[in-house]
Amino acid sequence: MARPTILITRKWPEQAQARASDTYELRLNEDDRLITTAELVEAARGCDALLPTVTDRLDAAAIDALPASVKIIATASVGYDHIDVAAAQARGIAVTNTPDALTEATAEIAILLMLGAARGASSAERMLREGEWKSWSPTGMLGIEVSGKRMAILGMGRIGQSVARKARAFGMEIHYHNRHALDESEAEGAIYHETPDTLFGVADVLSINCASTPETRGLVNAARLALLPDDAVLVNTARGDIVDDDALIAGLKAGRPAAAGLDVFNNEPAFHKGYLDLPNAFLLPHLGSATLSTRTAMAERALDNLDAFFKGERPGDLVTA
Ligand code: DGY
Repeated sequence: MARPTILITRKWPEQAQARASDTYELRLNEDDRLITTAELVEAARGCDALLPTVTDRLDAAAIDALPASVKIIATASVGYDHIDVAAAQARGIAVTNTPDALTEATAEIAILLMLGAARGASSAERMLREGEWKSWSPTGMLGIEVSGKRMAILGMGRIGQSVARKARAFGMEIHYHNRHALDESEAEGAIYHETPDTLFGVADVLSINCASTPETRGLVNAARLALLPDDAVLVNTARGDIVDDDALIAGLKAGRPAAAGLDVFNNEPAFHKGYLDLPNAFLLPHLGSATLSTRTAMAERALDNLDAFFKGERPGDLVTA
């Protein structure tokens, strides 16, 4: 049988690209340019599979425009909100993602954001670099201490559970909201909240770790931010569209939350520029999974799914609408 042809939309670490070329004919984006949806559809001509990622928008119109040869979309990402899975299913195209691969790296960034936002790291570092540091001061640049406080996790999946494990090292009490309460083996003593609202009420630190779905989009809004305790820190490593930007920017100006650490944004990379004026916002450009080992693992996990599919097996990470 001829080797399947795969469109790989972005450049992945060498080890993963080499593995892909051992098994498949590859159509590559050598310059690692952001490609438009129209360019992706055009490049997919003659391909059997796509290996896209979070920067590729495959909405219903794009899925409909894909050539009939495409049988599987193996996104190298845990999130698959950039793919209209229902439209793919309707065309008989399988969709897979890459859970597990980026759990620890993303949870590490959540902790970085929590500490960086709580201690005003971004403003302080900027001040130092700009030569504005005049003296150690007993009352200058005072931040928020998180040890022993309540960590509230919105979305207690793999990444949420890893954030919880790391937060326990700070003596934090773990609270969470999820569609369902976890078994005790996974909850490890974390306190379940049936509604997001009661979770917000105890969120000294709120870590957003849920997927972007119709239910969670815009969930972090003005009414819920108003429920946060004094000195709350909000952290988002999930998806920008879970947060209402205008509400969060107004909240940060009013001190509720007192600080925010954000790694993800609505309309990346064209994020809301209102965040730039806020000294209490610690901002990163979607770095959650950005380590060599994790990016390699993500691409390899996508290849595992493609390998299973082309062997006629059920891929391990099949997702459904
Ligand atoms: C994902 O895989 O969904 C992440 O956002 C990439 O960092």
